[in-house]
Amino acid sequence: MNVTWVLGYPTGHEQGSFLTVDLGGTNLRVCYITLPGSRDKEFEVDQQKYKLPNEIKSGTAEQLWDFLSDCLQKFVEEKGLKGTKKEPIYLGFTFSYPALQEYIDHGILQTWTKGFDIKGVEGENAAGQLQEALDKRQLPIKMIALINDTTGAMIASAYKDPKTIMGVIFGTGCNGAYMEQCGKITKLKDSGLPSDTLMAINCEYGAFDNARRVLPLTPYDEAVDRDSPRPGEQAWEKMSAGLYLGEIFRLVLVDLAEKGLVFKDQDTTKLREAYALDTGALSAIEDDESPKLSETRTLFKDVLSLDITEPELELCRRLAELIAVRGARLCACGVAAICSRNQISSGHVAADGSVANKHPKFKRRWGKALGELLDWPKDQGEDPVVLTSAEDGSGIGAAVIAAMTLERAEKGQR
Ligand code: GLC
Repeated sequence: MNVTWVLGYPTGHEQGSFLTVDLGGTNLRVCYITLPGSRDKEFEVDQQKYKLPNEIKSGTAEQLWDFLSDCLQKFVEEKGLKGTKKEPIYLGFTFSYPALQEYIDHGILQTWTKGFDIKGVEGENAAGQLQEALDKRQLPIKMIALINDTTGAMIASAYKDPKTIMGVIFGTGCNGAYMEQCGKITKLKDSGLPSDTLMAINCEYGAFDNARRVLPLTPYDEAVDRDSPRPGEQAWEKMSAGLYLGEIFRLVLVDLAEKGLVFKDQDTTKLREAYALDTGALSAIEDDESPKLSETRTLFKDVLSLDITEPELELCRRLAELIAVRGARLCACGVAAICSRNQISSGHVAADGSVANKHPKFKRRWGKALGELLDWPKDQGEDPVVLTSAEDGSGIGAAVIAAMTLERAEKGQR
């Protein structure tokens, strides 16, 4: 549960143009965003994606920040964005990893998650490292806010939709953010902030039950954890997030193949490759409506070079369903916990991420589980807490938070 220094919801009147950069998964995204200053007008977004080379994900801090500064430099040059030392281009940095923040433009990385393993950043101030790399190139860019993607999703969505109660990501990783009164945040008891001031909390509940006291783990969950770059961490995320669902499915099939129960006398070399199946494959299998599941048959042939029999097809479909249902139900637990702790009985949970957006059955399963957990009466019509599609948190959210930060600074507030 990390404090974010994002103090309260936006009013919907924030204005200005901001540069944003988003580091969180396969791509690095740089945007230049103009906030309209009104709930009813549209955001202007000019963006560019840069593929994050795989070697960077397990390289060094220097390579990482060099790559980021390189992309930012290219972007500002191409778009002709100008800044000076006195009037720099303000940057919001979405850094979707657990970071301990003493103020908003600071963030000590606690641990890499989602398969990243870059040396020299854990335990260090990631925000400072990025600013240093930008300064080395004498770029007129000033990073003013480091944010998490969940906080970004909540703030970007609240700019337009005042019913927003949380921002959540169900994607490569899983996590949520909500607003808390400072008086209830033990970590802030000596901060001097008024107790009714609101502050966004980045829950980092992907790390829930790292002590492994509650979650019922299967041997496949244990294998995913053991073979990850940070064993023992992100226990809950490893059972629910997009990065891992396909891998769990693959591990079950490998086990069944080893026991001689499936793919008899076939070459299972490709199936044995870690992460050979992504979560997209899992959704495709569950959704296959082709006659005799011929699309799944083709997927197994093309991706794994396996000929799959009819009973095996049925088994794979049921397995994909079980893994996805468990993931969706776990995702509901995080939100249920926040709702029951804060006695929130209605509102919008702004969700982003590939699992939320692309898995067709996710939303229904998530809603059903939330209703069970929060004891909603059956057949009451529309659910009181609903999942909505988040506004672009890591772009627009970062820009809105940058604007809120500047406004506070202009008023002399921290
Ligand atoms: C991981 C990160 C968290 C992020 C989430 C979704 O759980 O630790 O910071 O919000 O993935 O991207």
